[in-house]
Amino acid sequence: MTTDTTRLRLARRAHAQAIATLSRDRIEQGLGWSWTARRVARSLADPDTNVLVALDATDAVSGFGIMKFGDDEAHLLLLAVQAAQGRRGIGSAMMTWLEAVAVAAGVRRILLEARDSNAPARAFYRRLGYRELEMLPGYYQGREDSVRLVKDLWEWAATGLSRRAGDLRE
Ligand SMILES: CC(C)(COP(=O)(O)OP(=O)(O)OC[C@H]1O[C@@H](n2cnc3c(N)ncnc32)[C@H](O)[C@@H]1OP(=O)(O)O)[C@@H](O)C(=O)NCCC(=O)NCCS
Repeated sequence: MTTDTTRLRLARRAHAQAIATLSRDRIEQGLGWSWTARRVARSLADPDTNVLVALDATDAVSGFGIMKFGDDEAHLLLLAVQAAQGRRGIGSAMMTWLEAVAVAAGVRRILLEARDSNAPARAFYRRLGYRELEMLPGYYQGREDSVRLVKDLWEWAATGLSRRAGDLRE
């Protein structure tokens, strides 16, 4: 996936601090640090949650994603890539991995929230087929609005299949 040197793995307890630091620096800046290593460790221990890491050639954490699975829906809680490693496909590869698990688990749709002001993330998710569902005023600790995005996996799969069938007919 992504590059010759980046690998995706389920995270271990040893990755919790790096994940928390990346959340503080790339996601929660200006909001107060809520995803501490202890909180990440709770997600690692939760059987309904997948914590995924992208590791570089030295096994350092290049990115991570945390997704909580319900019966019908999954919620992407956090996703981030190291700033120095952006635009190399790591974020997309992690989303593909997490979505594949969701499809295998029979999940119908994925929900996530992004800061209203986070234009790059909104562009990233739009590119991956997410649509903006609603605004959530004051969602981030009452300090900032967020936008909720959704991807209907069944609809997406059906569209992909009909696109491929169209390709075959051409
Ligand atoms: C959003 C984020 C996870 C994207 O990760 P990434 O590895 O850089 O993304 P990819 O390389 O897979 O990008 C795929 C596509 O998304 C879009 N995209 C990604 N970053 C973008 C940016 N800064 N501006 C505009 N479009 C962007 C582009 O279409 C890109 O394709 P391209 O590079 O061929 O143009 C990363 O920028 C990040 O960690 N941001 C800070 C944390 C954050 O906002 N997390 C999401 C909300 S919780």
